[in-house]
Amino acid sequence: MTGLNEIYKCEICGNIVEVLHIGVGELVCCGQPMKFQDESVKDGALEKHLPIIKGNEVKVSSINHPMEKSHYIEWIEATDGEQVSKIFLKPGQNPKAEFCFTPISTRIYCNIHGLWKK
Ligand SMILES: [Fe+2]
Repeated sequence: MTGLNEIYKCEICGNIVEVLHIGVGELVCCGQPMKFQDESVKDGALEKHLPIIKGNEVKVSSINHPMEKSHYIEWIEATDGEQVSKIFLKPGQNPKAEFCFTPISTRIYCNIHGLWKK
């Protein structure tokens, strides 16, 4: 069973979906179950991916994360407990985003290293 706001990825075609309403079915893409993107289990690279909240801005790590076509931060999401906003980034941009509220929690998605939360 899925959970609200969980992120799943198809390991074949690369589709990524977020659960906006919980159902009982399994998420399937390209004929196989989609893979749950765990925001807590990682194999290193923590210092390059941990989001930092400063005022209404979210920055990805204290050292620069690459923003190249082959490796970049795809999006930064933030919530203040009521509102949720997601800002999509492109290669070449800075790995940061400014929100119109003060985030209390944030998630970022790296196309190589997956989902990270603070
Ligand atoms: Fe990365």
